[in-house]
Amino acid sequence: MNGNEKLNILVVGAGMYVCGRGTSGYGTVLPALCEWRRRGLPLGEVFLAATRPESISYARQRLDSLNELMGTDLALRTFPDDEEGRDPESYMLALREISRPACAIVVVPDHLHCKVAGDCLKAGAHTLVVKPLAPTVKEARELISLQEKHGVYGAVEFHKRFDRANLKLKEVLGQEKLGDPLYFIVEFSQRKSVPSKVFESWVKESNIFQYLGVHYVDIIYFATGAVPRRVMALGQTGWLRDHGIDTYDAVHGTIEWEGPNGKTFLSHIFTNWIDPESTSAMSDQRIKVIGTKGRYESDQKRRGIEMVTDETGVEEPNPDFCSTYPGGSGTVSYQGYGIESLLTFIRDVIELNQNRITIEQLESVRPTFRDTLASTAVVESVNKSLAQSGAWVEVVY
Ligand SMILES: NC(=O)c1ccc[n+]([C@@H]2O[C@H](COP(=O)([O-])OP(=O)(O)OC[C@H]3O[C@@H](n4cnc5c(N)ncnc54)[C@H](O)[C@@H]3O)[C@@H](O)[C@H]2O)c1
Repeated sequence: MNGNEKLNILVVGAGMYVCGRGTSGYGTVLPALCEWRRRGLPLGEVFLAATRPESISYARQRLDSLNELMGTDLALRTFPDDEEGRDPESYMLALREISRPACAIVVVPDHLHCKVAGDCLKAGAHTLVVKPLAPTVKEARELISLQEKHGVYGAVEFHKRFDRANLKLKEVLGQEKLGDPLYFIVEFSQRKSVPSKVFESWVKESNIFQYLGVHYVDIIYFATGAVPRRVMALGQTGWLRDHGIDTYDAVHGTIEWEGPNGKTFLSHIFTNWIDPESTSAMSDQRIKVIGTKGRYESDQKRRGIEMVTDETGVEEPNPDFCSTYPGGSGTVSYQGYGIESLLTFIRDVIELNQNRITIEQLESVRPTFRDTLASTAVVESVNKSLAQSGAWVEVVY
């Protein structure tokens, strides 16, 4: 790619994370692409592939209002197009038609990450996959081999690595202000509508630890440089099973880690997706670290804004993840660590194509496929422990 060539982007998936399906918002991926345009940065064609024509028309409607809101003109070429029927292979057609240089952003249910991302890598596209890279180490390793074989860049969209509260934690731990970590406590939960409505069609292919817990597994790995050694996990059923959904309400995972200095510590990660719809934020999340010389507590739900209105009651919006801000001339801009994570990938791909950076250089500073293997290994071990009623399971990867 020379400096004048524009990058084409294929987005695979048109659900909640891409365009806000099932929510009142616009998701994160389309807002990030519009924000790229809003900032006047170079962009080629954007392709969007889903399985059903209805998903495509919904994404188009969302994009129309987003463009109006942001004062942008992002256009999409869509697969299948409005006329055609259901086609789970539509992204393959898009991969054949998209001109190079191109990259792919894969936002499909967890159990399809390996197949879809694998096909993107085989087609020579630098690929960003939403977390978890895959539910098993075997699949994650397969993706790493494909990425290496085809000489393309692969990263996981672990946006919490861009959250300043977590970067501060990494800094504090690196400066050894807390001494040796002894234990981490994480609580992370979302509303009942996530498993019962939004993910209804694939809820059984995941669980709440795999969906939310994995974020903080990655943050602990990122912030400490430690290696996960063994895990044990217990699940509880209740509200979801009573409503015909056969998955855990809550999963509790304990992970034993070995730090770079050879000392061990524990992390206890409590997750659920049965919060009331009336809770004041989409994500209820906090992390606490106890070390031999101090503690660090980060309330990642209550970020300083509380709003109450006749229409929606009490809300505590997260201004740091993916939020609108006045953008000038009556338009809005999108900012936050979710936006930053996606734009960083696009920027990295452009720099790779211009030979200004190498895949090896990105390896030490980004959530690359290889750097996220530990999180996939923990997810797989947690799933094994759940199946063995909470037995300790070695983490192997
Ligand atoms: N919702 C979030 O906040 C969030 C955040 C980060 C990551 N994720 C991850 O993103 C992934 C998708 O989550 P979501 O929230 O968008 O789910 P969703 O159920 O709302 O959407 C999934 C989308 O994938 C599409 N899809 C399925 N098979 C496909 C195929 N063969 N080709 C093209 N499209 C296909 C579906 O049509 C649907 O549009 C999951 O791995 C999830 O863990 C979600």
